[in-house]
Amino acid sequence: MAAKYISLAVACFLLLRCAYTDAQMVPAVFVFGDSLVDVGNNNHLKLSLAKADFPHNGVDFPGKKPTGRFSNGKNAADFLAEKLGLPTSPPYLSLTSATNKSNAFLGGVNFASGGAGILDGSDNIFKQSIPLNKQIEYYSTVYGDMVQQLGAVGAQKYFSKSIYGIVIGSNDILGYFHSGSDLRDKYTPQQYVDLMVLTLRGQLKRIYNLGARKLVMVGAGAIGCCPSQRNQNKTGECNQETNYWSLKYNEGVRSLLLELKSDLPDINYSFFDTYTVLLNFIQKPSVYGFTEVKAACCGLGNLNAKVACVPISHYCPNRSDHVFWDLYHPTEAAARIFTYYIFDGSQPIVYPINVRQLALM
Ligand SMILES: *[C@@H]1O[C@H](CO)[C@@H](O)[C@H](O)[C@H]1NC(C)=O
Ligand SMILES: *[C@@H]1O[C@H](CO)[C@@H](O)[C@H](O)[C@H]1NC(C)=O
Ligand SMILES: *[C@@H]1O[C@H](CO)[C@@H](O)[C@H](O)[C@H]1NC(C)=O
Ligand SMILES: *[C@@H]1O[C@H](CO)[C@@H](O)[C@H](O)[C@H]1NC(C)=O
Repeated sequence: MAAKYISLAVACFLLLRCAYTDAQMVPAVFVFGDSLVDVGNNNHLKLSLAKADFPHNGVDFPGKKPTGRFSNGKNAADFLAEKLGLPTSPPYLSLTSATNKSNAFLGGVNFASGGAGILDGSDNIFKQSIPLNKQIEYYSTVYGDMVQQLGAVGAQKYFSKSIYGIVIGSNDILGYFHSGSDLRDKYTPQQYVDLMVLTLRGQLKRIYNLGARKLVMVGAGAIGCCPSQRNQNKTGECNQETNYWSLKYNEGVRSLLLELKSDLPDINYSFFDTYTVLLNFIQKPSVYGFTEVKAACCGLGNLNAKVACVPISHYCPNRSDHVFWDLYHPTEAAARIFTYYIFDGSQPIVYPINVRQLALM
């Protein structure tokens, strides 16, 4: 009896939710990437140091709940789904024990994992994560389930209409420049960035071969300006070297997408220039409602970046006026503005088309 009432309440909630969100634009949204879009996969990784399932993360999330998002509230995966008129895609690892997986997969799945990179091993600093290769392996099992459920023709249509968001690369770059990394002995920065782009090429082709046609590729931000990087500079300046190689990586991704498009004419994509938007926040904060662009909101020490956002850390009273929530991640307020530009922005910020145009195709 009780269970029946609860499921009725859930159904009502879902109906109300549908009435208040935008109309659904695509069948599903699949998300790949790192902590910028992890919505709880790492909660299931016992050994990972990249976790956010404790306070003060989630202090502005409904119910003040730490969910595994590296944010005070929602992140870009939530806002993207919301704009597309869908509930946030559930974390893949939360579904592996569900009785009807295919059903739960229907609106999309999130494979993103804090610490993840394009290259296996970029998570070394964090001990454990799901690298992009593994995320695609998980996606291939979802693909198989959906083909069984919808039939080959139905599944092809479903996948080709769905949105594939990919937010990756920052951990590879941070990993290269991390003190103690042996990558610098093996590769010049240019060779390393080329290796990232070449590896990504194979990964995007695999996703394509598993039905994806609408890609949302998010470039690396000005990661040299995140509080952890500023904290390593006496005067709190951005790290020019990591910024430079983030730009180089983004350049590589842009050419890769152009090349893929001529190779695979039926793909369409949006490339988002996170780098420029983040620099705009920093250079013209008042335009966006920010007053603090250097220090993290949650943490301890210089720029709140000496100690991460852990339960003993302090957090700022107003999260809406900070760009950074912790030493690496944007606040909900910043993620909301990023997603606004991804969705409705124009060239050169989002290129060649924005996600609204991509979704409506
Ligand atoms: C699983 O979900 C699918 C799609 O909604 C449905 O067709 C199927 O009957 C469900 N299976 C079970 C065992 O509930
Ligand atoms: C701090 O940043 C400035 C500006 O980028 C740079 O010139 C300087 O060398 C940096 N100092 C250190 C210790 O990294
Ligand atoms: C998507 O790609 C197809 C094939 O190249 C192209 O004809 C179409 O114009 C593209 N759509 C948009 C909105 O750019
Ligand atoms: C918090 O910051 C936002 C954005 O700058 C501002 O609009 C709001 O008034 C601030 N709230 C308080 C209580 O200061």
